[in-house]
Amino acid sequence: MRRGFFITFEGLDGSGKTTQLRRLEAALTAEGRTVVSLRQPGGTALGDRIRAVLLDSRSETELGGIAPEAEMALMFADRAQSLGQVIQPALAAGSVVLCDRYTDSSEAYQGAGRGLGSERILAMHQAVCNGFQPDLTVLLLPPLAGSLLRARHRNDRQQATQGVNENRFEREGDAFYERVYAQYQAIAAREPQRVVAIADEAGIGVIHKIVVRIVRERILAMTP
Ligand code: TYD
Repeated sequence: MRRGFFITFEGLDGSGKTTQLRRLEAALTAEGRTVVSLRQPGGTALGDRIRAVLLDSRSETELGGIAPEAEMALMFADRAQSLGQVIQPALAAGSVVLCDRYTDSSEAYQGAGRGLGSERILAMHQAVCNGFQPDLTVLLLPPLAGSLLRARHRNDRQQATQGVNENRFEREGDAFYERVYAQYQAIAAREPQRVVAIADEAGIGVIHKIVVRIVRERILAMTP
């Protein structure tokens, strides 16, 4: 049997990638495909615990901060678990796997944002994930300022209404996010076969149509 398809969504916090992932999931499910979606960090029981440590801004005080290398290693510990427990089995069963963030996030946030450098992230990706890459990566790169505003508002809202604290990254300054953004652009330029960047700031419906077209052209057209 043909292996399923592995599609990741990437972009800054507030870029709209999660909304687009859900819309694509609905469209593919309506076509009768089996879709498995997850996010990183998270998506497994272990991953949810790692996520809580990584994203909670209280980690800064209660844990005395998280060293950049520890942050990188925790992101990859989460990834290894989700590859083993969810992604690989689903692909082997022929499903379409949609993952909200993957190793490009580590390269952008830990590699560029935290300054660890791409080489260390890519070496870790080889060691931990055996270099396993998505068939397609949809990179949403609308202009930086709007994404940041949306992400910061959303997290304030979540904390107020649900008591969820996932602010650790949103507290970073604009310079951090400028590095993340530039690294995403560099990844798209380096790997045009895998990564499709959508830089438009259009409505959700317009972007969805573009995403569906790309998925059909680049991936689903390969279905026998
Ligand atoms: P996510 O919940 O996807 O945030 P959002 O929905 O706001 O985009 O991701 C949580 C945060 O984790 C996000 O700020 C990016 C960060 N992150 C990394 O720094 N490195 C990684 O490898 C991953 C997967 C996420």
